[in-house]
Amino acid sequence: MRKILITGGAGFIGSNFVIYMKGAHPGDRLIVLDKLTYAGNLENLKGIKDGEGFRFVKGDINDFELLDSLFQKEKIDIVVHFAAESHVDRSISGPRSFIETNINGTFTMLEAARRHWPGVADAAGKRFLHVSTDEVYGSLGPTGYFTEETPYSPNSPYSASKAASDHLVRAYFHTYGLPAVTTNCSNNYGPYQFPEKLIPLMIINALTGKPLPVYGDGQNVRDWLHVEDHCRAIDAALEKGRPGETYNIGGRSERKNIDIVKLICSIIDEKAASDKGFAGEYPLDGSRTSLIKYVTDRPGHDKRYAIDCKKIESAAGWKAEENFESGIRKTVDWYVENRSWWERIMSGEYMDYYDRQYKGLAKMPKTQS
Ligand code: NAD
Ligand code: DAU
Repeated sequence: MRKILITGGAGFIGSNFVIYMKGAHPGDRLIVLDKLTYAGNLENLKGIKDGEGFRFVKGDINDFELLDSLFQKEKIDIVVHFAAESHVDRSISGPRSFIETNINGTFTMLEAARRHWPGVADAAGKRFLHVSTDEVYGSLGPTGYFTEETPYSPNSPYSASKAASDHLVRAYFHTYGLPAVTTNCSNNYGPYQFPEKLIPLMIINALTGKPLPVYGDGQNVRDWLHVEDHCRAIDAALEKGRPGETYNIGGRSERKNIDIVKLICSIIDEKAASDKGFAGEYPLDGSRTSLIKYVTDRPGHDKRYAIDCKKIESAAGWKAEENFESGIRKTVDWYVENRSWWERIMSGEYMDYYDRQYKGLAKMPKTQS
């Protein structure tokens, strides 16, 4: 039985990974460590009970004593490190927590693993898989792709904090022989994504008739990956990835932001036209595209991300399977079917953040330290 410590397992990708692993590897013991910040939500794991195969621990990755006792008592074999502050806009309005969690927290995780796993030679079966982002590479022009050799050039406090954490992971492999693998992934979408990110925010606002705030001219490009494809890629990187290596993961699905927003509007318009019950639940005169509002651009907004994922495809036999057009339809359906999940979030503190950010639809949140 592998004992796998999953940090940030109550967040978007982490909870999808727990659900995926329960199905793909039911013999593993999964220990989720999560601080339950605004982005962590135990409802994401509601079907999974504590027992032989699962344990939830509420705690901070900066708490070395807690990590030390978890490594010791649980005899951790594998770490899958998702825990992070993940939203670029929040890193602009308040970068401090990004430094504390993404840099100091990753450092504390590495220290705990180093203490309990003496070095590559003695660490058979051990892995520290660090989940990172393509944003560390900066911004692309109209052509070209990020490869594992692209120089780091982070542009936001979020991506700079993730870049720093990647460098620490690399250094722990080279200096201490920690068996670490880093994955750099493109934009994920799917169930349980917190509605501050583009896709869930646009789905929920289009359903409820609220403005759809498109930053700048809407021409920025992201490379979209369905979260279940990402979970399979992490599983493949755990099985086949080599310590000290990094692997890019992407969906080969580049889309302009404005095209995604219009696609979401047309999917919801179609549903309203063909289903009277749906139209009654989510009333709106005319097309959802009338809700689109171009707002002040994000400062330092990266123009384009696109991933070359040939390395993981050939090294681990992984390939993205979901097609964006079907994946986005499934995702709209998920948010329609799980209204109580997002209504609870939208009625809480998170809404104050967005109220502040988009009163007048043109302001960034006030600076916090
Ligand atoms: P998320 O914000 O949805 O979830 C983050 C989770 O980490 C939450 O459950 C939160 O409670 C927990 N957490 C935060 N600070 C913590 C701390 N100090 N101690 C313990 N737990 C803490 O994030 P996500 O979108 O699921 O992203 C997960 C990881 O994947 C992050 O490392 C992110 O940088 C990376 N990533 C995300 C994407 C994406 O598109 N979402 C793409 C590439 C990489
Ligand atoms: O590329 C991987 C990264 O993708 C991850 O590392 C981050 O954790 C994740 O948040 C995501 O970052 P982005 O900044 O690309 O995602 P976001 O959903 O915030 O924005 C996607 C694009 O949509 C971006 O160009 C900004 C734009 N946008 C976003 C929001 C929230 C809008 O136009 N309007 C919005 O309201």
